[in-house]
Amino acid sequence: MACRAGGGWLPVMSQSPTLPDHHVAPDADALVVYASTHGHTAKIAARLAEAMRGQGLEVDLRDVAHAADAAPGRYDLVVAGGSLHKEHHQKELAEWVTARSDALAGVRSMFFSVSLSAADDGDEARASAQRCIDDFCAQTGWTPTRTERIAGALQYREYDPFTRQLMRLLMKHMGRPTDASHDYDYTDWDAVDRLGREIARGAEITAGAGARA
Ligand SMILES: Cc1cc2nc3c(=O)[nH]c(=O)nc-3n(C[C@H](O)[C@H](O)[C@H](O)COP(=O)(O)O)c2cc1C
Repeated sequence: MACRAGGGWLPVMSQSPTLPDHHVAPDADALVVYASTHGHTAKIAARLAEAMRGQGLEVDLRDVAHAADAAPGRYDLVVAGGSLHKEHHQKELAEWVTARSDALAGVRSMFFSVSLSAADDGDEARASAQRCIDDFCAQTGWTPTRTERIAGALQYREYDPFTRQLMRLLMKHMGRPTDASHDYDYTDWDAVDRLGREIARGAEITAGAGARA
């Protein structure tokens, strides 16, 4: 699943995340905006927002599809996240960030990237996931204060039949589960909670090891 490895990913079938947004605008302290093709990044974004709220922050949580009016300059902290599909993050998120790259430059910010590569501890997978993050930042003109790789999930039960079959073949090749009657969650949720608390507290932002299972 290497970024730029040219490895056989087919176009992703778009499915909507199931979680509702929580709107706290207009006087929220932080914005968490996400793009999620099969719903897992939506869960991570919601969990980050919850951890941040636990630290006393008002958090505006938005699906990027409903974030056209969210102006980064109105917040003390902006968190944006998406997931990797065929070595790219969602186009909608890239467009949202690109249109606001100037405003984002003046705000403390974090980009989190959800992927299966991040579930792999090997140097090659780590470098690959980081390259995809670097590509996203270069493409959008955004230099987030912090970037994080977060291990995602294999959600066979969410996929349409074509994507399910494609993923089974890829996972077989990668030595991951192929029993499509189950989903497989690789996210370290405690690490996600810690990350949310950390950024809410304004802990010095440096590239971390990511929240991996
Ligand atoms: C069709 C498809 C393509 C994917 N491509 C990649 C990829 O290129 N690199 C990677 O690390 N993970 C890849 N993944 C794994 C997703 O990033 C992972 O399942 C993530 O949890 C999806 O988050 P979402 O539910 O928010 O879309 C892919 C998953 C699917 C279904």
